[in-house]
Amino acid sequence: MRSFAGRDILSLKNFERNEFFRVFEVAEYMEPIAKARKNIDMLKEKTLVTAFYQPSTRTRLAHEAAMIRLGGQVTGFADARMTRAGDFYQESIKDTVKMLEFYGDVIVMRHFQKGAPHEAAKWASIPVINGGDGWGEHPTQILTDLYTVLREKGTIDGLRWVAVGDMRMRTMHSLGYALTQFDCPITFVAPPGMELPDEYKKDYEAMGLKFDFADHVGDVIGDADVILVEPTVQPDYSKSRDERKGELPTTPDNYKITLDLLKNKAKSDAILLHSLPRMDEIPTDVDISRWSRYWQEAFNGVVMRMALLALVLGAME
Ligand code: CP
Repeated sequence: MRSFAGRDILSLKNFERNEFFRVFEVAEYMEPIAKARKNIDMLKEKTLVTAFYQPSTRTRLAHEAAMIRLGGQVTGFADARMTRAGDFYQESIKDTVKMLEFYGDVIVMRHFQKGAPHEAAKWASIPVINGGDGWGEHPTQILTDLYTVLREKGTIDGLRWVAVGDMRMRTMHSLGYALTQFDCPITFVAPPGMELPDEYKKDYEAMGLKFDFADHVGDVIGDADVILVEPTVQPDYSKSRDERKGELPTTPDNYKITLDLLKNKAKSDAILLHSLPRMDEIPTDVDISRWSRYWQEAFNGVVMRMALLALVLGAME
């Protein structure tokens, strides 16, 4: 297995099966620390730099919380408009990263341009973690989701997935790549105009993923062991900010997971994931149903980032 020390986490495309399991093993080691709300000194000499060019609640704060749990420090920015990258100068990724690498030991970057963290990794002498790049990928979220499935179901292999929502979403792309390493068929359910881009379809076919498509979640939810949902009412992820204007549309029934749908059609032991934020695609009465696992997923978001930081900083091999 390749060492994680010093490695960038940019995509799940080339993540190998045994690497997934090593990350899950380290996450399991971290879980009791996060559960006990303890801070340890594993990374006390290290600093995380957060470079967020797009809004985030979970990804930035979970990385920060993870670093603090491991005894490290955090610096960075949550709004590029307050830096030279986001004002008059529009400082390039290269010039920005050539500064950030002196301010810490690992960078987590979210950017509205697909491939921006890859560009950062070209220039940085320290590891770069992709915290979501435009309509590209969101590897740490999907590692979190797979870890949640493993903990909740005791296995990943042999489970059938249904993914519902906007297939242009970065989580969906990382999910498809990840599932190529497991025995997990998946059905994608997306509205017209939000279909899985050809680039990913071609990659998944070449990499042996078993996947198909459906028009209505109600037609396929009964076969699912794992239901993963993203909104169809979305901002434009290729913009640094996308403020709401006017009346918002509601989610059509085809892409909505209601309590009635779960009670009438889902397997009783299926689990429901959503990386959040949500709009109206999962009504709040689902939150305390036996299917929902999104709060567990949120907790695991910290655990997973603890594992990744420890691995890329060489504190665990
Ligand atoms: N799941 C996720 O990426 O959430 P944030 O946009 O709040 O980071």
